[in-house]
Amino acid sequence: MVLVVPLSVEKLVEMVKSLYRDIDCAVACVSGGVDSTVSAIIAKLALGEKVYPVFIDTGFMRFDEARSIKEALKGLLDLEIYDFANNIISSIEGLSDAEEKRIAFRESFYRAVKRIAEEKKCGWIVQGTIKADVVETVGKIKTQHNVLSDELLKRFNLRVIEPLIELYKHEVREIARQLGLPRCIIERQPFPGPGLLIRTVGKMYREKLELVREATKIVEKRLNGSGYSQYFPAIWEYDVAGEGSIDGIEYIVFNIKTTGVVDNVRVYGHPVLIKRYPAGLDVLKIYSYFDGRSNPHILIELTDNNRGEYVAAIRIVKTENYMMAEVPRIDINELKLLAKEVASLPKIRVVTFDITPKPPATIEYE
Ligand code: XMP
Repeated sequence: MVLVVPLSVEKLVEMVKSLYRDIDCAVACVSGGVDSTVSAIIAKLALGEKVYPVFIDTGFMRFDEARSIKEALKGLLDLEIYDFANNIISSIEGLSDAEEKRIAFRESFYRAVKRIAEEKKCGWIVQGTIKADVVETVGKIKTQHNVLSDELLKRFNLRVIEPLIELYKHEVREIARQLGLPRCIIERQPFPGPGLLIRTVGKMYREKLELVREATKIVEKRLNGSGYSQYFPAIWEYDVAGEGSIDGIEYIVFNIKTTGVVDNVRVYGHPVLIKRYPAGLDVLKIYSYFDGRSNPHILIELTDNNRGEYVAAIRIVKTENYMMAEVPRIDINELKLLAKEVASLPKIRVVTFDITPKPPATIEYE
């Protein structure tokens, strides 16, 4: 059955009330992003005391995230914080494949949710799943951790309330405005459920994860309030598989694989780093020299320390619906200043900037 969800708080609350008023109780998983926050508030307005809003520290959150989200939502939701960081990180350490990592994350995340639901004696959870999450999982573009299969729900013996399942991000923001949420929540850039995990590209280990956390702090400090849809760094090993040149463009190819999306199908290929390009060449057009299937992400170099083990790859995009995205034109000197700060972190060899739109690249690297 396709539910046509009307775009008003009252109607969403009515819908949740009419469908779920007889449940025992529900744990509402809130990450601080606009989707899960709006979902939890709608559920709370509809079901009152039966809803327990919680924040789970997965270990893949940004610096100080639990405390700052609790603070930002004060007076709107009384969040209970649960720390599962060590459990969840340990269950993923050593894994390399992007899908395997997402699936392992989903497994330990829901084990944590189940423990909380048992503690509260609830058979239900509330989630901020939106339409794009479902479209991408069903289309096998990637496994969204919050799109639960019947098998998972059965195995964890949980049932799920998803008030926003028919809405896209800009519609959720509209509901958030109707709810009078603070701007910092409404305009907060989306942060993926598995968080920094998918920005610790390739093999997951703690040193790399901590480096992503540090680099994220720097990038967000400079770009919060910039109006870009998403802006973040990812980290992977400086491991070069090959080099070449084409029409005066000198490049290297990394060994790691990153994701792209071509004709609505996910592809995996090696990112390319442009070391040098002819003066006057439109930087945003360089990507058209490469094949998006083999090389979904094309990067330009901002800084090379000439030593160090890691690539810090900065990505900035503008998008309405997150299904397509463009790279904004940013003054190269501004980017270089940001890169200089990131390059001062330990063991960083190069800092890059991704010039590829979606498609052919995905927004994230995995
Ligand atoms: P991609 O990389 O697929 O990203 O172009 C589109 C949007 O989805 C977010 N994203 C995720 N969100 N779990 C999430 O909850 C994930 O595994 C995941 N992967 C990507 C991404 O940040 C962007 O907003």
